[in-house]
Amino acid sequence: MPNGIAAARNIADLQLLARKALPGPVWNYLEGGADDEVTKRRNTAIFDDVLLTPEILTDVSNIDTRISMLNIDFGFPVIMSPTGMSQLFHPSGEMAVARAAADHAVPYALSTMATTTIEEVAQIGGRRFFQLYCFKDRRLTSELLDRAKASGYDGIILTADTPVSGNRERDLVSGMSVPMKFPLKSLIDFSLHPKWSLPMLFGKRVALANMTGGHWGTGSAAGVIAMVNGQMDRSITWKDLDWLRATWNGSLILKGVSAPIDAVEAAKIGCDGLMISNHGGRQLDGAVTPLEQLPHIRDAVGDAVVLILDGGVRRGTHILKALALGADACAIGRPYIFGLAAGGPAGVHRALQILRTEFERGMALLGVRCVADIRSRHVRWSGQQAATDFAVRLERNAWPNRPETSDNGPWTAVGRSAFSPGKAV
Ligand SMILES: Cc1cc2nc3c(=O)[nH]c(=O)nc-3n(C[C@H](O)[C@H](O)[C@H](O)COP(=O)(O)O)c2cc1C
Repeated sequence: MPNGIAAARNIADLQLLARKALPGPVWNYLEGGADDEVTKRRNTAIFDDVLLTPEILTDVSNIDTRISMLNIDFGFPVIMSPTGMSQLFHPSGEMAVARAAADHAVPYALSTMATTTIEEVAQIGGRRFFQLYCFKDRRLTSELLDRAKASGYDGIILTADTPVSGNRERDLVSGMSVPMKFPLKSLIDFSLHPKWSLPMLFGKRVALANMTGGHWGTGSAAGVIAMVNGQMDRSITWKDLDWLRATWNGSLILKGVSAPIDAVEAAKIGCDGLMISNHGGRQLDGAVTPLEQLPHIRDAVGDAVVLILDGGVRRGTHILKALALGADACAIGRPYIFGLAAGGPAGVHRALQILRTEFERGMALLGVRCVADIRSRHVRWSGQQAATDFAVRLERNAWPNRPETSDNGPWTAVGRSAFSPGKAV
């Protein structure tokens, strides 16, 4: 166990610190996945099946991790995924995450289920997305859209993989369900974590900050959560995405895409970006991992749409692998919350610093100077995937002659194809 934030060498160390800081029920809400958590585990484990092929003697004295996409300049290719209830993990909650994101020049996606308002987060001034659910009562959705627009949000992320909640059995056992019902073991756990429990008891009430007043009423937090759950609309379809595209003229990103056929449909409708995601393994257990689907989706949509790999990223080399397989950027959820729980603002900062440093070192060791130079030839699958991948590449002649390396400098990542046939970029 590292001795504090500064001593955390990697995201796994922050995870250990977060585990220690949080009472069991809160930890399980954060870490847990659906059913047997097979998908949650595979989201990270699958990165081990992708092997990097470093190239040498390429002069890596200057490494440029910046990219530019969706009209945003990024310090490095990472987005903070939307996560609900951040003040549960530390009183500084969403504000700490948004501030660290702004400091590292990466966009923050504020969740509909946030414990801080759309307007407060906007005051920080970093680049930001708002994550939206399509509620049964469309007026509720429209109001959130209007507020995001008035507060200058760069884009909307529509989460579409939650027609119903996933079966998170850890939460059922610990009582973090709706309505909350804590067994004695959980209550003892809370009392053994006074540093967490006392601010919860005597500090500001943790509530879904964007859903109070107006149509939402002013009931208890549990009552509001129950109402939000009741508003989750199982009947949403592509027509609703059409409606959203017509209503919102900033960037539109669809979150929860796994199937290439859905990616193609979303591109047709005019989405600017897709988050390839299974909600961190919290929804359909047994679902395919984002990394496995990424090359297929890039193949299906070509260069037209930004692809963001979301789920399982714990190392800078994971970002390298995803980019080599066709992603434009990666999104992270739990890694920054581990930091938040472990040490508030300093912990989120440390999580981003760790990933950025690892990514930069990985680029140097891979032999690339800028993000544009990370190409499909830098990776290959091991294990069962290898044979299929070999066949696909052979068919596409995806092993070009050594390309000229691009000049250092921010590079517009939009539309980088994983399998560009023999073409230097
Ligand atoms: C505690 C927690 C809360 C989350 N809340 C939301 C949410 O409100 N909306 C959403 O679209 N996704 C939510 N997610 C999913 C994340 O946006 C993201 O898809 C996932 O965390 C990525 O996997 P990773 O944790 O392995 O990085 C949540 C995830 C966690 C762990």
